Amino acid sequence: MKKTCKILGFAGSLRKGSYNRSLLRAALELLPEDAELEVFDLEGIPLYNQDLEKQPAERVKEFKEKIRGADAILIATPEYNYSIPGVLKNAIDCASRPYGDNAFEHKPVALMGASAGMMGSGRAQYHLRQCFVFLSCFALNQPEVMVPFAQEKIDKDGRVTDPQTRKLIRQLLENLVAWTIRLTSST
Ligand SMILES: Cc1cc2nc3c(=O)[nH]c(=O)nc-3n(C[C@H](O)[C@H](O)[C@H](O)COP(=O)(O)O)c2cc1C
Repeated sequence: MKKTCKILGFAGSLRKGSYNRSLLRAALELLPEDAELEVFDLEGIPLYNQDLEKQPAERVKEFKEKIRGADAILIATPEYNYSIPGVLKNAIDCASRPYGDNAFEHKPVALMGASAGMMGSGRAQYHLRQCFVFLSCFALNQPEVMVPFAQEKIDKDGRVTDPQTRKLIRQLLENLVAWTIRLTSST
């Protein structure tokens, strides 16, 4: 029997009608049969303060446990001012500390993102990929899922309606599962 790949997903937006939350919702619908996806809400993660990192908030502990319990990570990010939204960067910072207790270490990670503009969050995604180097996690290179003009591809109920976007998300999930198997079978 094939092992199920447990994926933890989170979006870098707290907005109820978030396009990036919609991408995760589409991922839930498009999962390969050998994968499961749990979506974690970054709501409630406090601002990182190094003075307090030895007494992390319950929500941070929970987030780190979920990351550690997952075989792979799926991040859906918006782009804010050509970069990573503070909510997402802060959550990643919280889960990577204290030094030596980085929950992301050696995790396979896939990225996707949607924006209202023409770059589909690409600049934020490349900034995130730079963070992955120091986090020492293993980023999946392709496909790059950058969804521009998201308002034209996601309906008012938050469903991703664009067939090409759905196809890319499915491909991303298939590649993430294959990448995870490849990494875990060689370690
Ligand atoms: C502070 C802020 C900065 C933004 N900067 C960008 C940007 O650099 N590029 C872009 O394409 N959209 C930008 N936008 C628009 C976002 O793409 C849009 O708000 C999108 O819906 C955010 O993702 P969400 O729907 O998942 O919340 C910005 C929005 C905000 C609130």
